[in-house]
Amino acid sequence: MTDSGDLDAAWLPSAAFRAVGSRRSLVRAGDGPPAETVYAELADACERFGGRVVRDGGDGDAELVLEPAGDDLGDEGFALTRRGGTTTVTASGERGLLYGLFHVVRLGEDAFRGERAREVHRPALATRMLDHWDNVAVHPVMGQVERGYAGGSLFWADGRARGDLDRVRAYGRLLAACGINAVAVNNVNVHETEARLLTDRIGEVAAIADVLRPYGIRTHLSVTFAAPMVLGGLPTADPLDGAVRDWWAEATGRVYEAIGDFGGYVVKADSEGQPGPFAYGRSHADGANVLAAALEPYGGTVHWRAFVYDHRQDWRDRTTDRARAAYDHFTPLDGEFAPNAVLQVKHGPMDFQVREPVSPLIGAMPRTRLAVEVQATQEYTGQQRHVCWLGPMWSEVLRFRPDGGVSAGRLADGLVAVSNVGDDPFWTGHPLAQANLYTFGRLAWDPAADPHAVLDEWIALTHPGAPARLADGLHAVLDGSWSTYEKYTAPLGVGFMVQPGHHYGPSVDGYEYSPWGTYHFADRDGVGVDRSAATGTGYAAQYADPWAKVYESPETCPDELLLFFHHVPYGHVLHSGKTVIQHIYDTHFEGVAEVEEARRVWAGLADLVDPARHARVAERYEEQLRSAREWRDQINSYFLRKSGVPDERGRTIH
Ligand code: GCU
Repeated sequence: MTDSGDLDAAWLPSAAFRAVGSRRSLVRAGDGPPAETVYAELADACERFGGRVVRDGGDGDAELVLEPAGDDLGDEGFALTRRGGTTTVTASGERGLLYGLFHVVRLGEDAFRGERAREVHRPALATRMLDHWDNVAVHPVMGQVERGYAGGSLFWADGRARGDLDRVRAYGRLLAACGINAVAVNNVNVHETEARLLTDRIGEVAAIADVLRPYGIRTHLSVTFAAPMVLGGLPTADPLDGAVRDWWAEATGRVYEAIGDFGGYVVKADSEGQPGPFAYGRSHADGANVLAAALEPYGGTVHWRAFVYDHRQDWRDRTTDRARAAYDHFTPLDGEFAPNAVLQVKHGPMDFQVREPVSPLIGAMPRTRLAVEVQATQEYTGQQRHVCWLGPMWSEVLRFRPDGGVSAGRLADGLVAVSNVGDDPFWTGHPLAQANLYTFGRLAWDPAADPHAVLDEWIALTHPGAPARLADGLHAVLDGSWSTYEKYTAPLGVGFMVQPGHHYGPSVDGYEYSPWGTYHFADRDGVGVDRSAATGTGYAAQYADPWAKVYESPETCPDELLLFFHHVPYGHVLHSGKTVIQHIYDTHFEGVAEVEEARRVWAGLADLVDPARHARVAERYEEQLRSAREWRDQINSYFLRKSGVPDERGRTIH
């Protein structure tokens, strides 16, 4: 990929390879696809920057050596050393060498200075996956990419896999450079056309897998639980039926004939209208295990989503609480899932709101493999028209300890994000949303990493040699952007005050009298959902201590989640010292002021950023500001009218 092509180079502009490309390198590796990539990357960089790369020679005068090591580093780990003028990357597997090379690229000149004692780098999480909610055929309501804000699909066009997969290749390269190793290529809502990717259209998936493989990425497919019926013509999809079991085994065997390293299936079952095991009186473990059994002989995995709740709830019914659903459905099944079944849990109990507590399911199923799912696509966080860097949010989730930090264990076995990428020339619609994708990959590799340090990496790679003024400016507009978005949209853990359907822009009561289980219960006296065990839905008691205690009482509940857990009067005083109503007014004025300031900072960077990129972001800031003002005015007016409490500072509220 060249910088002058019509596709943005994102975090791999050729200048990012200057340090490795101007060195003498030696690659000693096998000839599997990732090793070929390592060699090709270096050859390409050397051609640009005057270095030289050889394969399999003696050490000679090499300044950079990449070579196999014993098997102590795992499939993906690598070690880095620098001694006597030579930087050496060793890895047990070819993918480790690839990650090692991109690590050296990130270090730039630093990789070639001084001495470096042996550092070992291994991914903390085995699965680092992107789920694409892409449809092959354009869906009449959702379009081609469900909740997609970056154009059409990277993989599919005109009703089939793209013939030209260059863009997919460039994507695979970007993903490898931030450590992602799995991609699911179609929507979890599996419609008629997409169901057939599993069988007669598997060749199209294989073509995509061939392009991603050299970057160490395994391809996964979303499948419908009803496949034995809709594709196999069987009268049932009952997971305990022998013919159903055989059908899955046979279909899966054919998938592996086409894609030898196929990653496995992703399943959304009994959720928002998708078919599932409940129709047969079977459990979700029964459902997952029939697919797991089919995948097991080949080393594949089924990612079974825990997003199961009643989406046809009666809003008058105060006893049903959607937040409880995943825990209630799944914890009784702990220990029943096959070893190659991974329960994929959304990070919060609701649905990717700008602020939610961490799902109580995480940590409550010690005998089940779990993956945490986050949403890089900004469905509820500004739809890539607003700047909202989600690194700090994800980092908070990943640092959460269900037992309050008593054990040091990790939160999950995998991290999955709903992808924010499409065929937009900037990949993500909003060029600054690229930072979300990069940060996701790096946090999946190392969940303990400081997200701001990851942002430094992204800035340095994306803008090689950038002056401090640009780095400072990018930090200024990105660092606090999640908090800014939260301020002008959703106060204190209230969610879903969005326009129904497309979910963009404010509509305070848009979902208040709907069947979706998404309510704030604002009245003239107060606002919020009582989820305490004492007087509410009991959701708070799904946590282990100390969190169950912390969340149970408005006195101890953190301010930012107060209205998620409690219904309180407008005059309730927060830990911050403000009343709830004054907090609502203040944050909405502040949020808009912060967007105005970010827009100003961005305008001042015009001389340092590629003009097309600068213009795209500037244009989006206009919309963000318009929308933020709309949010401020609607939310403030709504709560002023409900509560009758004036703003202490007498600002304009309509
Ligand atoms: C959200 C989103 C849907 C999506 C669903 C899911 O509800 O709005 O478009 O299908 O999540 O995660 O399955």
